[in-house]
Amino acid sequence: MKNSEAYHLKYHITPPYGLLNDPNGLAFFRSQYHVFHQWNPTGTEHRNKCWAHVVSDDLVHWRRKGIALEPSEWYDKDGIYSGGSVVHEDQLYLFYTGNVIREDGGKESYQCAAISEDGESFRKLGPLFPHPPGYTRHVRDPKVWRDDRGSWWLIVGAQREDQTGDALVYKSEDLLAWTYQGSFLEHDHTFGYMWECPDVLSFAEQDVFVFSPQGLPEKGEYYRNPNQSGYILGEISDTGKFDGSIEDFKELDRGFDFYAPQSFKVRDRLIMFGWMSAMNEDAERAVPTVREGWLHALTLPREIVLRNGRLYQIPLSELQGLRQQGVQAEVQEHGSWQLPSLQAEIIISFLELKESFRAVLRGSVEISYDFEENSLTIWRTNWLTSEREYRKAELSHRPVELQLFIESSSLEIFVNQGEEVFSLRYFLEDTEQRSIQLEAGGNKGQINIYPLRESVE
Ligand code: FRU
Repeated sequence: MKNSEAYHLKYHITPPYGLLNDPNGLAFFRSQYHVFHQWNPTGTEHRNKCWAHVVSDDLVHWRRKGIALEPSEWYDKDGIYSGGSVVHEDQLYLFYTGNVIREDGGKESYQCAAISEDGESFRKLGPLFPHPPGYTRHVRDPKVWRDDRGSWWLIVGAQREDQTGDALVYKSEDLLAWTYQGSFLEHDHTFGYMWECPDVLSFAEQDVFVFSPQGLPEKGEYYRNPNQSGYILGEISDTGKFDGSIEDFKELDRGFDFYAPQSFKVRDRLIMFGWMSAMNEDAERAVPTVREGWLHALTLPREIVLRNGRLYQIPLSELQGLRQQGVQAEVQEHGSWQLPSLQAEIIISFLELKESFRAVLRGSVEISYDFEENSLTIWRTNWLTSEREYRKAELSHRPVELQLFIESSSLEIFVNQGEEVFSLRYFLEDTEQRSIQLEAGGNKGQINIYPLRESVE
């Protein structure tokens, strides 16, 4: 029974029941946007993974289509794990990892493909290539792209036998026969014990390698979640190797809950979804929605732009279509408003920032800006321990615009048109608690509050 108003998300992709994790197979095919995601339809634990399928005409309104791929063959009998897709010759090719648990308890992984002519039914093509030597069974999450010369490339996350993370690259001329090229990013560092969900974004100026390393040690305010997702700028050579440095790794999102993002290109735009969770197991088990039989959500889609050597993540402009009649007010030293509904967008824009400010949403989540440090800190209450906890980021510019997308149990904060983003879940039983308090100090500016429409059927 999903529908407690207290936690139900209405404009994010959530599972109707069961557990959702990574976005998969993002595509524009036959005039529709296709998002797939990891889904356990049988419970809220991490098992029985399938690919669920949701479609949209506009990237904002989504219709659930149920299961696209489920375990059925010897090579994927224990899970259809993450991967990407490409459209070629009017067919949609899905790439995924087949997870297999042997009778002796050992595990195996197979990089597989499936194909669809209509975007409705999917035919499995089986494993594509043998397991690479020198790697543990942790090889997964194939993502495919095409270069300017027409060759196809496939990248997978991997773990070396010495338990360090890596990504491997394969090449193909026909999407079916693949040749192994070795490590995508040659490195002798230990940078986490496994790299999940690798992705490649190409801009005119540079290429970007996105991946989700597991097990990075905390470093000051960095890497504070159990697992990270981030990127490195560089360049892909003709042999499919990425020329870039691990030392330049930057986290994509500085909030509590963001992991395993995937991107796709729609005409000349790059769009990314992430999984809105980076919780440890205990926190995950304690999420109040588990009692209602569902768990987790995808983030909103973000347009990714490369600007001054960093990725900006801008909420898709199409989301403005969800806005209803809003209210606008001048910010004051002590301002207080009521959210018209639990689904809202709030834009706070300052004319000139001269001192620290603080906003408290629903008496629970606090956003505080420290002028001296030029840092933004987000506080929430941990639903397992009841303790207050924070994530903090130093900014490169003064935060003159904050765009907040709030729902009953989620919040995404975009600073200065996506220069920095904080994504998080928070859980508050009291649906009547809808206050927004803004202590703006002497800063001048405006606040706009728009109720948002429901957009996921
Ligand atoms: C990332 C991940 C992937 C894997 C999938 C399984 O969250 O662990 O590496 O394919 O989830 O659900």
